[in-house]
Order: sequence, then structure tokens, then C-alpha cells
Amino acid sequence: MHDILNQDDLYLLVDEFYKKLLSDDSISYIFTDVVKIKIEEHLPILVTFWSQAILGTGGYTKNLTQIHLDVNAKEYLSPELFKIWLNHFFTTVDENFKGEKAEQIKTQALSIGTIMQIKIAQEKGKKM
Ligand code: HEM
Repeated sequence: MHDILNQDDLYLLVDEFYKKLLSDDSISYIFTDVVKIKIEEHLPILVTFWSQAILGTGGYTKNLTQIHLDVNAKEYLSPELFKIWLNHFFTTVDENFKGEKAEQIKTQALSIGTIMQIKIAQEKGKKM
């Protein structure tokens, strides 16, 4: 098993990750019903995002937290859903890669996920 070295590795990672998300009924509805993602368009965006985050390539310019606040406005993204998402992400990384970048991508996913959850909790507070 090797580390995450390039965009082909990232493509394999996000492809395997989304297979897990989409075959788990407890979270798949977000991607199939709430937002109807087109997987063939979605995966390259994920690769660009993670390539910028851990390979330093650049190219991702959107506000990722806002995108998730918009999803949350349609359907509540609960702490439980984040736990499921992160669990599938970590498992996919560990099943396929080993090394510094593999550790880094998990740490980043956790910290970005934590920021998203804080923002979502703040939105919830505003409505009350
Ligand atoms: C409960 C957890 C999460 C759920 C249910 C979720 C769901 C979604 C959905 C439905 C989209 C498509 C939005 C759209 O096209 O309008 C999306 C996009 C995306 N998500 Fe998440 N997400 C979660 C957490 C995360 C986390 C923690 C990260 C990163 C660490 C992440 C990274 C991304 C990226 C890179 C995109 C593509 C955004 C773009 O189109 O520019 N997601 N997510």
C-alpha cells in the first residue's frame, strides 16, 4: 500500500468513498434526493478540491462551507450524518493508502467537517 501521490490516487479515493456513501441508506438520500448530484461531474470537482488541499495544486475557488450551508437549508445535516460521512471517508483512506498524505487528508476532513458543523449549529441558533 502506498501514499496518496497524485490526482489518479485522489480519483480512486473519492470514487471508492462515494460508492460507500451511496450504498449507505442512512446518508445516500442527501446525494440522490435532497441534491441530485451527477456523479460523473461531481467526482472531478472533489478531486480538484482535495488536490488543492493536500497536493497544493490550486484550482478550487468555491466556498465549500456555504455550499454545505445551502444543503443544510434543504435538509438538516446532523452531527450523526457528519459522523457517518467521516467514518466512510476514514475507512476508504485506510483501505487504500498509507503515509503522510493519507494522514493529512483525514485530519483535514475532520477539521473542515468540524467547521461546517459549527456553522450549521450557528444557523440553527439563528432560527430559534
Ligand atoms: C454530513 C456530511 C456531508 C454531507 C451530507 C455532504 C453532502 C454534500 C452534497 C449534497 C454536495 C453537493 C452540493 C451541490 O452540488 O449543491 C456536496 C459537495 C461537496 N462536499 Fe460535501 N457533504 C458533507 C461533508 C463534507 C465534508 C466534511 C467535506 C470536506 C472535508 C465535503 C466536501 C465536499 C466537496 C469538495 C463538494 C463539492 C463542492 C462543489 O461542487 O464545489 N463534504 N457535499
